[in-house]
Amino acid sequence: MEKNVRFYVCKTCGNVIGLIHGNPAALRCCGQEMQLLEANTEDAAVEKHVPVYERVEDEIVVKVGEVEHPMEKDHYIMWIAEVSDNKTTRVRLFPEQSTQTRLPYEKGATLYAYCNKHGLWKTTIE
Ligand SMILES: [Fe+2]
Repeated sequence: MEKNVRFYVCKTCGNVIGLIHGNPAALRCCGQEMQLLEANTEDAAVEKHVPVYERVEDEIVVKVGEVEHPMEKDHYIMWIAEVSDNKTTRVRLFPEQSTQTRLPYEKGATLYAYCNKHGLWKTTIE
């Protein structure tokens, strides 16, 4: 099934947008086409980006990642998003804050984390 939102990035300035519906070919920034952000699912580095979660009744408690990602001014997780077929929930994060976030439990939804340096990461909620 098609995702209800897809994320695009400008390779020049780093602008990130979410396309709710429509044709991505029209998306331009800094005089060029915006690129679909492909999410990574595996992280070989020590610093981890793939979001992890624990189910607590009808919610999940999310962290990024298995080894908690830095939350420093120049390197941090900017947001976490939970995208299902018909709903998007996005939580903005800030440096010095924890990545821990509570979201509704939605089986089959995709959980995304966006690092300002290392891009988009995802896992599926089982
Ligand atoms: Fe990172």
